[in-house]
Amino acid sequence: MLFKLASTVFLAQFFALTSAQTISGPFDCLPAGNSYTLCQNLWGRTSGVGSQSSTLVGSSGDSVSWSTNWNWQNNQNSVKSYANIIADNAMGKQLSAVTSAPTSWSWSYETKSDPIRANVAYDLWLGASPVGAPASRNSSYEIMVWLSRQGGIQPIGGPTASGIQLAGNTWTLWSGPNSNWQVLSFVSDTGDIPNFNADFKEFFDYLVQNSGVSSQQYVQAIQAGTEPFTGSANLVTHSYSVALN
Ligand SMILES: *[C@@H]1O[C@H](CO)[C@@H](O)[C@H](O)[C@H]1NC(C)=O
Repeated sequence: MLFKLASTVFLAQFFALTSAQTISGPFDCLPAGNSYTLCQNLWGRTSGVGSQSSTLVGSSGDSVSWSTNWNWQNNQNSVKSYANIIADNAMGKQLSAVTSAPTSWSWSYETKSDPIRANVAYDLWLGASPVGAPASRNSSYEIMVWLSRQGGIQPIGGPTASGIQLAGNTWTLWSGPNSNWQVLSFVSDTGDIPNFNADFKEFFDYLVQNSGVSSQQYVQAIQAGTEPFTGSANLVTHSYSVALN
């Protein structure tokens, strides 16, 4: 009885901080707890036909829960969107000054079509100046970490290294250019990673030691989300957090 009461109180507190809110406009954003922003970012929507909405489920302390519900057809090789959580404060630090960058991401597909073409991925933006919007003229590198790759989709460029051991997983690194920045994508060799815990400092150190990334580069933004190509899904993030120390 006492236990039940306690857990009810805990759940009530968890959801009391933010009641579920849904956004559906192409570039709608929503504050998500104290340190994140949830954005739809349907940047590639005109290459296909479909719709997407994203919901902030709740937040507690440094952790946020959200979902995105999408349905896209046509142009199976084109990304339609990148609904994501961006950290408001994990930015403006040089790689050489990063002591740790812990992250935790627990996610699952509540529903998904078969076939489906989509990833679940981080987007970490690096640049020569402390301030830089993602995918802007200030971007030097887009570091992606793919926790899921469904339907045979591919990162930009081609594979340049494989069997990379980082954060308790094995990765293939893809590399290629996009606009004015370089894309470096770590793709899981072992399929979906639905419960990811890592320190991004391990990835930064790898890139500085092996990929020619200068330790003078600044972390400009850290995002976590999904790039749908075609199909439909409801992707739920049960809990997510990241910090840059
Ligand atoms: C680019 O960097 C400059 C200098 O740090 C900053 O003032 C500007 O707001 C940045 N612009 C974008 C689009 O990130």
